[in-house]
Amino acid sequence: MRVPICFDKTMRELKHLAIILDGNGRWAKKRGLPRTMGHVQGAKNVEKVCRLCHAKGIKYLTVYAFSTENWKRPEDEVKAIMGLLNQYLDSCIKTSKKDNMRVRLLGDREGLKEILPKIEELEEISKDNDGLQLQIAVNYGSRNEITRAVKDIAKEVKEGTLEIETIDEDLISNHLDTAGIPNPDIMVRTSGELRLSNYLLWQLAYSEFYFTSCAWPDFDEEELDKVIASYENRDRRFGGIKEE
Ligand code: IPE
Ligand code: IPE
Ligand code: MG
Repeated sequence: MRVPICFDKTMRELKHLAIILDGNGRWAKKRGLPRTMGHVQGAKNVEKVCRLCHAKGIKYLTVYAFSTENWKRPEDEVKAIMGLLNQYLDSCIKTSKKDNMRVRLLGDREGLKEILPKIEELEEISKDNDGLQLQIAVNYGSRNEITRAVKDIAKEVKEGTLEIETIDEDLISNHLDTAGIPNPDIMVRTSGELRLSNYLLWQLAYSEFYFTSCAWPDFDEEELDKVIASYENRDRRFGGIKEE
């Protein structure tokens, strides 16, 4: 692996944007609406932001839609979110050819039995699309993802198909749900919370962070432009030094 020694402009290209879509519930509450209406609005906004990212030349977009911890929410809310996800998958399946968007799921598929066939259908029909590369994190938790990767690696060692000595960072990356996808350049969290909530802990090791008080349903082109402008002003040194 090549370790960059100094900063250069090409390292600043925003190829991969990761977002924690937060604040749907508060957005709704502020308007006297049920929380689920916030999720409806939030889901609509994912479609809008996908188009915006594509238009601005961002190749990879990863969105956190439902965490392994979100099952703790009231059953009605979980049902509503899963219903919206189901609708979203249907619409993506229908428009896959036209949109040229590749969609992949990040997360523990075991816990997603009901919507899994649809997810896998969409992954299959969109696998050659070379437009926006969208990753949706559903039933996703970084610790769960790393635990599954460790188990897979241990199994290969036990079966004799993998030597312990060959385990390195690339091998671990290739056992994560994000295998083959570059690490995010910048991670955005909407709605004011300053935490990762179990999102992409391995992949965000050297990413830039951007926090905004804007609620996810209100996140628009102006907000995205602010993220891009902020990213363009960061010095990504990866442990090296800045060239004067
Ligand atoms: C994000 O919005 C969507 C999910 C986590 C599914 P929230 O539902 O967390 O909204 P707040 O944080 O309660 O406002
Ligand atoms: C993180 O948001 C998960 C998603 C956006 C899917 P939460 O709203 O669940 O996070 P916490 O509970 O405030 O940390
Ligand atoms: Mg939240």
